[in-house]
Amino acid sequence: MKRTVLITGAGRGIGRAVAAFALEQGADVVALVRTHVNGVLPCEVINGVDVTNKEALDRVAAILRDRPVDLLVNNAGIIGPERQSTLDMDFDGFRRALEVNTLAPLRVVQTFLPNLRAARDRAGIARIVTISSQMGRMNYAKSDRIAYRASKTAVNKVMQGLATDLAAESIAVRVVDPGWARTEMGGPDATARVADAVAGIHARAWETNMELTGTFVDYRGTAVSW
Ligand SMILES: NC(=O)c1ccc[n+]([C@@H]2O[C@H](COP(=O)([O-])OP(=O)(O)OC[C@H]3O[C@@H](n4cnc5c(N)ncnc54)[C@H](OP(=O)(O)O)[C@@H]3O)[C@@H](O)[C@H]2O)c1
Repeated sequence: MKRTVLITGAGRGIGRAVAAFALEQGADVVALVRTHVNGVLPCEVINGVDVTNKEALDRVAAILRDRPVDLLVNNAGIIGPERQSTLDMDFDGFRRALEVNTLAPLRVVQTFLPNLRAARDRAGIARIVTISSQMGRMNYAKSDRIAYRASKTAVNKVMQGLATDLAAESIAVRVVDPGWARTEMGGPDATARVADAVAGIHARAWETNMELTGTFVDYRGTAVSW
């Protein structure tokens, strides 16, 4: 039986690479794309899916109906506005970062919970992975890109709570840091190859079980402090 992976922000960067990798590994992949796909992605692609847009997510849910989703990857994310220091903040940009990086991943989960439950009924477990960042760690007082950092700290807390709330349902939730990966967001100086980040994310996702639910790890599997 093929497993189904649903992933947001799959048009470029880490999301596109995770979708391509999962396809290579034999999964059925449903790629949710906001604007465009870089190159060809030979799987089911649903366009026009801004994760902050409830109608767009409901449209996807209607397309998928009761199709089981074994793994949901919350990948879509933004770095936030140009001006995002505590002393000079673009508040509209900060709000947008929270919408995309914090609120949307939870809405995505809520939208596709019936699909995750269907997979759980079939396979005994379903999995949710949210791509976060070490930049949100609370014991790390660096202050650059504070809107981004705060949005990732907040999504970590939301996902930890979700893990607690879904534990009785055998739906596991994990937060994964992809490393500093060479994407548009990561930039050319980033230290991790996208291919390595993606192989790691894939491994971390599928090893997730009810013992590992509610944990935060990097793509190599090292525990990350919240
Ligand atoms: N790269 C790194 O070093 C790094 C490090 C830590 C964490 N992360 C996290 O990893 C994830 C992927 O990052 P990346 O490096 O691949 O970034 P990226 O190259 O900038 O790609 C971001 C992806 O998210 C999509 N996206 C942005 N806003 C969206 C929205 N409102 N609705 C739907 N899709 C949206 C983009 O779609 P469009 O093409 O339509 O804009 C694009 O596909 C993010 O959550 C990021 O915070 C990355």
